[in-house]
Amino acid sequence: MTNKPRVFVTRRIHPEAEAKLAEAADVEFWQESTPPSKQTLLEKLPAINGLITMLSDPIDAEVIGAGVPDLKVIAQMAVGYDNIDITTATTNGIPVGHTPGVLTETTADFAWALMMAAARRVIEADNEVRGGRWQPWGPDVLTGMDVYGKTLGIIGLGRIGKAMARRARGFSMQVIYFDNHRDPEAEAELDVEYSPLGELLTRSDFVSIHLYYSPEVHHLFNRDRLSQMKSTAVLVNTARGAIVDPDALFEALQSGQIGAAGIDVFDPEPIPAGHPILKLKNLVITPHIASASKETRQKMAFMTVENILAGLNGQPLPYCANPQVYDSDRS
Ligand code: GLV
Ligand code: GLV
Repeated sequence: MTNKPRVFVTRRIHPEAEAKLAEAADVEFWQESTPPSKQTLLEKLPAINGLITMLSDPIDAEVIGAGVPDLKVIAQMAVGYDNIDITTATTNGIPVGHTPGVLTETTADFAWALMMAAARRVIEADNEVRGGRWQPWGPDVLTGMDVYGKTLGIIGLGRIGKAMARRARGFSMQVIYFDNHRDPEAEAELDVEYSPLGELLTRSDFVSIHLYYSPEVHHLFNRDRLSQMKSTAVLVNTARGAIVDPDALFEALQSGQIGAAGIDVFDPEPIPAGHPILKLKNLVITPHIASASKETRQKMAFMTVENILAGLNGQPLPYCANPQVYDSDRS
């Protein structure tokens, strides 16, 4: 008879990480390629001690409540965790793990790819060729915008924002940033300049969003903010879809109020089939894959397993999203 802790994992994660987890726990993996429903979560939670989640799982107060009192730890395989009710987890003494750091460069690589693709019309050009429309070379065939030497506005100078600033150097770009906290050390080290948001929007040729989602930044990019951007500007979003108002983005792209957008996230995800924004040629859109390199997904899976095993053993999580859970006077 074993007395292993019980863990539910809302997707298959990575074979080696799964094997490591299975040595220490009784594990059930959700086998589908779509997330378990909230009803499924409510049914699973009362019987488990550890829960491994993806960013598409709605871990609200009701779901967490269904796990109390036996649920000891939640470990999310993502850096962002806005799908988890952190306050409720903390109040119930449940630490929540996430995967910061390992996906920084991978995500910045992808944001850069979206920026380049949108500026230089890479996807549109590829579609033309595949569609049998390889136009003879012409002075204005598929002309786009230069990236090198331009001004990049970074929204959120965290790990990923800084990785963008480092890339921008190689392109001789001027880099300005907006963040709630000024970071004089980073300003000196990366040669980036702080700017209030409004000024950043009017000055930037490229604007790239690298914020954690919170209700305070819900639709931060609304009609007003988009209208402050240059008519040639390219907006890049690899953070969370709901930071940009999707209707305002559609209008701004369609009317030419901004030049183009490269987005990996949308509100909602998945985007509804037939959404009118999908008809626009000045949009490059991908399905939330910025951290999706094989190497990085393997690292994320192992970090998640490290977090869940620490939590099951009653040890502090090595990568904890709510360290306040360890304060004796929380509440
Ligand atoms: C991806 O969006 C993540 O938060 O890891
Ligand atoms: C935000 O997710 C960051 O890591 O900068």
